[in-house]
Amino acid sequence: MTFTQERTIADQVRHDFPLLDQEVNGKALVYLDNAATSQKPQFVLNTLRDYYQQYNSNVHRGAHTLSNKATDAYEAARDKVAKFVNAASRQEIVFTRNATEAINLVAYSWGMNNLQPGDEIITVVMEHHSNIVPWQFVAQKTGAVLKFVELTPEQTFDFEHFKTLLSEKTKLVCVVHVSNTLGCINPVAEISKLAHKNGAKVLIDACQSTPHMPIDVQEIGCDWLVASGHKMCATTGIGFLYGKQEILESMPPFLGGGEMIAEVFLDYFTYGELPHKFEAGTPAIGEAIALGAAVDYLNSIGMDKIHAYEAELTAYLFQQLDKIPQIKIYGPYPNSKGEGRAALAAFTAGEVHANDLAPLLDQEGVAIRSGHHCTQPLHRYLDIPGTARVSLSFYNTREEIDVFIKALKDTLDFFHSILG
Ligand code: ALA
Repeated sequence: MTFTQERTIADQVRHDFPLLDQEVNGKALVYLDNAATSQKPQFVLNTLRDYYQQYNSNVHRGAHTLSNKATDAYEAARDKVAKFVNAASRQEIVFTRNATEAINLVAYSWGMNNLQPGDEIITVVMEHHSNIVPWQFVAQKTGAVLKFVELTPEQTFDFEHFKTLLSEKTKLVCVVHVSNTLGCINPVAEISKLAHKNGAKVLIDACQSTPHMPIDVQEIGCDWLVASGHKMCATTGIGFLYGKQEILESMPPFLGGGEMIAEVFLDYFTYGELPHKFEAGTPAIGEAIALGAAVDYLNSIGMDKIHAYEAELTAYLFQQLDKIPQIKIYGPYPNSKGEGRAALAAFTAGEVHANDLAPLLDQEGVAIRSGHHCTQPLHRYLDIPGTARVSLSFYNTREEIDVFIKALKDTLDFFHSILG
């Protein structure tokens, strides 16, 4: 695929996403719930279908052609993901079911075995539940203590507060790269640097950044980074954990069973090499291969181009939302070029509850998310019951933002007419 300057990325890729070409409730679908899950290009769907239609077979076991083909494709997908995030080696990529499972892997394998009573884990009030609850399990079992970085007045990561929480007791810092609710892009390289200076390890939740910008784990300098395939044009059921090789080497397996062992005796086992020691059981083979295809697809557009185009859409979205008086958007504002935050906006609309807005927008064919977006502690911190969230992707257009804004205005007018 060659991308031209004259046509937007969306114009050029739109036909790759058959799902987008449909009516919902009699209206053309406008899919603006990309932070929850992305749509899948035909190339990824074909890759998954080809695996099941042509070489469905188990990996690493078979001395037969189909198994070898499946194994090669599965391991090639690992190479693609390793390159996508600039891991130092393919051993540093472990396939998991999703990002949540990847965080739980680190929590159980590293957290449960390395933390003592009084040790501290620092995370942030804006975290997704998946980067809070596993650490609550660890804290309950080990006696470690959770500390939370608060927000600046602009509703971004408060670095000064972070500095005051760091101490020799800090053993782990877990931070989301891009907040799925505030849309802020956290300074993960600076956070990693400072955490490491204090002897702490660093885990980054990159679910909302890997689909939208270039990611370089070596530049970030984190010890672990997690992401989910389904948010980056791949399917559900596949995600990955990046971990620095020496740290993954030092961690015991998370789950036991086939694939992760070297030898099994009736009374003990030895485990295999990285990354297989963390991939117990038959993995999601086709889904991993399709994740490799999604990486190829994103690379064919270019992550820099995706980021720049989504910034343009963000600038437009904010300009339009700002014209509606009742709307209050959470998180930092972008600059005039739409830079400095992610391509999403979580907002409240005066007295109208977000959960009432979303179903009415759906009647107009517009899909957005409403509620707490798996960030209940953040919503409590902001003292709001929920937000409506519009989240964009590179296949969205300005025209779709216009449809959303019109539907939103009409819906608010309707509420005002009945509320008086
Ligand atoms: N974590 C996903 C979201 O933000 C599901 O919607």
